[in-house]
Amino acid sequence: MVDLRAEFPHHEGLRYLNHAAVAPWPRRAADAVSTFAAQNASIGARDYPDWLKVEQRLRERLRRLLNAPASGDIALVKNTSEGLSFIAFGLDWRAGDQVVISDAEFPSNRVVWQALSRLGVEVVQVGLGGADPEADLLAACGPRTRLLSISSVQYASGLVLDLPRLGEGCERKGVLFCVDAIQHLGALPFDAQAARCAFVVADGHKWMLGPEGLGVFYCRSDLRERLTLHEYGWHMLEHATDYLRPDWQPARSARRFECGSPNMLGCMALEASLSLLEEVGMHEVQRQLNERMEHLQQGLSAIPGATIHSPREAGRRAGILNFTLDGWDQAQLFEALRQQQVVCAQRGAGIRLSPHFYTTGQVLDETLTLISQLAGR
Ligand SMILES: Cc1ncc(COP(=O)(O)O)c(C=O)c1O
Repeated sequence: MVDLRAEFPHHEGLRYLNHAAVAPWPRRAADAVSTFAAQNASIGARDYPDWLKVEQRLRERLRRLLNAPASGDIALVKNTSEGLSFIAFGLDWRAGDQVVISDAEFPSNRVVWQALSRLGVEVVQVGLGGADPEADLLAACGPRTRLLSISSVQYASGLVLDLPRLGEGCERKGVLFCVDAIQHLGALPFDAQAARCAFVVADGHKWMLGPEGLGVFYCRSDLRERLTLHEYGWHMLEHATDYLRPDWQPARSARRFECGSPNMLGCMALEASLSLLEEVGMHEVQRQLNERMEHLQQGLSAIPGATIHSPREAGRRAGILNFTLDGWDQAQLFEALRQQQVVCAQRGAGIRLSPHFYTTGQVLDETLTLISQLAGR
């Protein structure tokens, strides 16, 4: 049994509901970083082979989190934007090709595709507000569509999309299916194979409870060589440690996307954070997160003047709940909550609350009480 109070010894009075932005680390990640720092300061990299074992364990944990076929399908990247850029600037585009996205994507998953306009690539943006957003996305994929790129959990509204359905539709239409999973991985189970994903990209600092600066890039193995590489170095070579070898070729595995030395500090932290999620189990994480979302949703629904701008059905939500309060300007409401130590964000239609599976009932109740007091003002 994981001792969650020991793992998340938050500051007294803090109401941390901002996992959709940057999450707090669990104690074990902080400990891993402290140990790593102490080791660096005393013996440097003498035990580098042990660090490589941690890095390999991290790849295995990410493979399981995504249900990727092999750890060699996983590349460690700087962030989501970098992974998406590898795809956007790696594919061989023809003028007139189309990329389909939604009209509410976080800029990372819009700007990379719009940056292809100089090659004649057109971006088609689809609204997700209809009764059947998956049908609307697939209907927008026509004969010129090469790729559909979508956040599986929308960053502002929290809407969860049906990935297997989208993946199946893309396969039928011969469209590559690319998923920005940053608001999904670590909050809900994920299955890159069942969803027939061509590419999956995410950063570790949200629901995976890791530090900023270390993300995951999954590229289906048969597509790897279709991505032209734009970063070169020693680490991405097939014979990476054979430094004297004059001939070279990119690694057959996804390591080909990792040009140089790894972010070992980040690996230490993320590996520890993911070990916690694995000990709890992703189905249990999902169940507990759903309970907390239900709690917040019911509490907010009972507050006069509060309007929820997120889906209410369990199957359509992950960890994001967006709301507004009558009579309150968004920025003022955000500031009033901040002053009461409610850590949240201003996004999309209103204020975004994002608990995680370990958030206590006390934090949720105190937040709801504060919101109802503000509603009465
Ligand atoms: C859907 C989505 N994609 C990407 C990002 C961030 O991208 P990166 O990992 O490049 O910082 C965010 C951050 O809020 C996001 O919500």
